[in-house]
Amino acid sequence: MKDIELTVTGHRAFGGYGHLTLMTEEKLAFAPGQFAMLKPAGAIEPIWRRAMAIYRARATARATSIEFIYQVFGRGTQALRQLRPGDGARTLLPLGRGFDTDAVAVGGREALLIAGGVGSAALLALAEQLKREQVPTRLFLGGRSRTDLIGLDDFAALGVPVHVATNDGSQGVTGFVTLPFERFLQDRAEDAQAGKFVAYACGPHPMLAGVAALTAKARILTYVSVEERMACGFGVCVGCVVAVKGRDGDGDYRRSCVEGPVFRADELDWS
Ligand SMILES: Cc1cc2nc3c(=O)[nH]c(=O)nc-3n(C[C@H](O)[C@H](O)[C@H](O)COP(=O)(O)OP(=O)(O)OC[C@H]3O[C@@H](n4cnc5c(N)ncnc54)[C@H](O)[C@@H]3O)c2cc1C
Ligand code: FES
Repeated sequence: MKDIELTVTGHRAFGGYGHLTLMTEEKLAFAPGQFAMLKPAGAIEPIWRRAMAIYRARATARATSIEFIYQVFGRGTQALRQLRPGDGARTLLPLGRGFDTDAVAVGGREALLIAGGVGSAALLALAEQLKREQVPTRLFLGGRSRTDLIGLDDFAALGVPVHVATNDGSQGVTGFVTLPFERFLQDRAEDAQAGKFVAYACGPHPMLAGVAALTAKARILTYVSVEERMACGFGVCVGCVVAVKGRDGDGDYRRSCVEGPVFRADELDWS
């Protein structure tokens, strides 16, 4: 984990979202699903940095460029929105445990990625890695409307088939992203039974719970990236805990910034 100031090299706003590109003259390495905590350099408010998934990173021997996609909610993301090229961003990274790809990289398995809204920001780097490892990959992408289908073009450019759902029906199937996902699992029930799939999901908690219920029924190994509210981002404030199932039936808790944000879906207590 490093605490460094990165320089803004690009910032594009679209609707209620921002696409921020930061640069450092250091070579940094990340695992898909890891995240950063960031805020404008020198800013007193907000006190705490905000957690953002590393959307895409490119490293050369001399520099690393890191992209984030954020949705504007409150003070932290409003402050990020003010950043301009040349400004500094105080950044803690890389943080957390990313996605495990060992299980999908064997035996001709296929990766099923399920994303809701800005949750897709945590999945593009995974799709890039799976492509490098020649793992067949498809994406189920949902949003409230077509303008909330974050990263659609970048996933399509990787050659990933995309099944789209929007709540208002402006693109793809009308409804939640779990709808096309459920239909796919019904169509490919035999492959699911044969253990051909591994699922990876990121999005709002109800979506993750819906995906976890579908994949538990279909007996598909599933990893979810949770987006709990975080303060420190490195394990000391215990503000980001998630409930996990205890071995003896009693519940227990894990810090999602350190033991997560990626967990096996069957380890979490969804009740
Ligand atoms: C590991 C991790 C990765 C994340 N990656 C991304 C990412 O790539 N892009 C991104 O946009 N966000 C991401 N988030 C969520 C992001 O950290 C929060 O949205 C952000 O901290 C909000 O800060 P704020 O100051 O703008 O809002 P606050 O002032 O903290 O909150 C304002 C209001 O918005 C509500 N709110 C805040 N966050 C959310 C949320 N996520 N969903 C629904 N309501 C919310 C609050 O309850 C409050 O009512 C990630 C979170 C985690 C833990
Ligand atoms: S955010 Fe502080 S312990 Fe996880």
